[in-house]
Amino acid sequence: MTMINHVKGMKVLNSRGEFTIEAEVQAGDSKARASAPSGASRGEHEAKTVSIDKATENIKKIEKELVGRDPEDQEGIDEAMKELDGTEDKSNLGGNTMIAVSMANARVASRVKREPLYKHLNQLSGGYKQETPVPFLNVLNGGQHAGNDLDFQEFMIVPQAETFHEAIDKAAHTYQELRDIIYKEHGRNAINVGDEGGFAPPISTPEEALELLEKGIEKAGYEGRMDIAVDSAATFFYSDEKYRFGDREVETPDFVDYMKKLTKEHPIISLEDPLREEDFDSHARLTTRANVQIVGDDIFVTNLKRLREGIKRGACNAILIKPNQVGTITETIETVKSAMKNKYATMVSHRSGDTVDPFIADLAVGLGCEQIKSGAPCRGERVSKYNRLLRIEEKGIPYAGKG
Ligand code: PGA
Ligand code: ZN
Repeated sequence: MTMINHVKGMKVLNSRGEFTIEAEVQAGDSKARASAPSGASRGEHEAKTVSIDKATENIKKIEKELVGRDPEDQEGIDEAMKELDGTEDKSNLGGNTMIAVSMANARVASRVKREPLYKHLNQLSGGYKQETPVPFLNVLNGGQHAGNDLDFQEFMIVPQAETFHEAIDKAAHTYQELRDIIYKEHGRNAINVGDEGGFAPPISTPEEALELLEKGIEKAGYEGRMDIAVDSAATFFYSDEKYRFGDREVETPDFVDYMKKLTKEHPIISLEDPLREEDFDSHARLTTRANVQIVGDDIFVTNLKRLREGIKRGACNAILIKPNQVGTITETIETVKSAMKNKYATMVSHRSGDTVDPFIADLAVGLGCEQIKSGAPCRGERVSKYNRLLRIEEKGIPYAGKG
C-alpha cells in the first residue's frame, strides 16, 4: 500500500487577487495539489475560514496526523482532520484549510491508483451513474459579484443539447451575441465582466436582465431551446423585513408571488436562493407553488443537517453543492447521497473567488450530479471546469441532459 509521506501548504492567488490556500499531498512518488475557492456571498452557516498564514501553519499540524495513512481511505483522512479540528464549524483548522487537503488527498489517491479523478470519486461515493452535467452559465453578474446596481446576483443560460460539447458551443455563441447587444445598448464600458465572467451592464432590475438574456438567446437563434436560471442570493438584499431591489421594497408573501410570476413570464427553469437563507417556510411555499427547480445554496450550505431540515419542511427541490461550504469531500459525498435519496436535484458549483483548479468538474461526474455551474464561458478559472468536462466527454462519458 502507498502511504502519505508529506503534506504541505502554500499561498496562491485566486481570481480576485486574494491569497488562498493550496495543499500538496504526496504518497509514494505521486504528488497532487488542490486549492480552496472562496465565496463573496457566503452563507451564515458555512464552515469558517482562517487566514492564509494560519491555514499554512495548520497544514503542518494536519501533516502529523496524515503521514503514514492510506490516501485511498478518504473517510479516515477527513475524520482525522475533523477530530483534530474539534469544532462544529471547523473554525479551528478552517474549512478552507481542510477542503484544500481533502481535495489534494482525493487527487493523489487517484494518481496512486492511476485512474482519472472522477472515477476515483465515483468509487468513493458508491458508484452512481457517471455523466457529464448540464451546464448553467452565469452570463449577467450582479449582487456581490459586480459593481453595477443589479441586486439579483446571477442570470444564467441553460442550453438544451444532446451533448456537453453542444451545450457549451450554444452557450458560447449566445454569450458573444449578448456582448454585441450590451455594447449596442449600453456602450463599450458595459462589456467589462464581473467576478464570474458574466457582463455587468448598468441595469438594476431583474426584468432588464431577463430581457437582455432573451434578446441574446433570440439573436443566437436558440429561442425555445435555451432556458434561463436565476440565483437571487436574496439574503443580501433583505433587510428590516423587506426585499429591497431596484427601486422596490417588497414584503415576503408578495416577494414569493413576484418570484413565481417571473417564472411564468420568462423561460426560467431554476431559481436559486430565491428567499433569505433562514426562511425555510417561504422556500417551501415557493417550491410547492412554482413549477420550477428551487435550488438551496445559502440555506443548505452543502450541510447534511441543514439539508435534512429542508427535506423535512419541504424547502427546495434541489441543492447546490460547494465542497468548501462544508469543508471535506466525505461530508460533500454524504450530502449528495442524501439529496439523491430524497429526489433533490444536485448542482455542483464553483465560488466567485476561484482558481483554475478543475476539481469540481470531476466531482460532478464522479458523484453523478446532473448539473454544474461555473460562471460564464470566459475567464480562465471559469473555463477550466468546462474544458475539463469537454475532455471527460471525449473519453465516452454520456451527457446528463440528453433527450
Ligand atoms: P459566492 O457566490 O461564491 O460568492 O458565494 C456563488 C453563489 O451564490 O452561488
Ligand atoms: Zn448561490
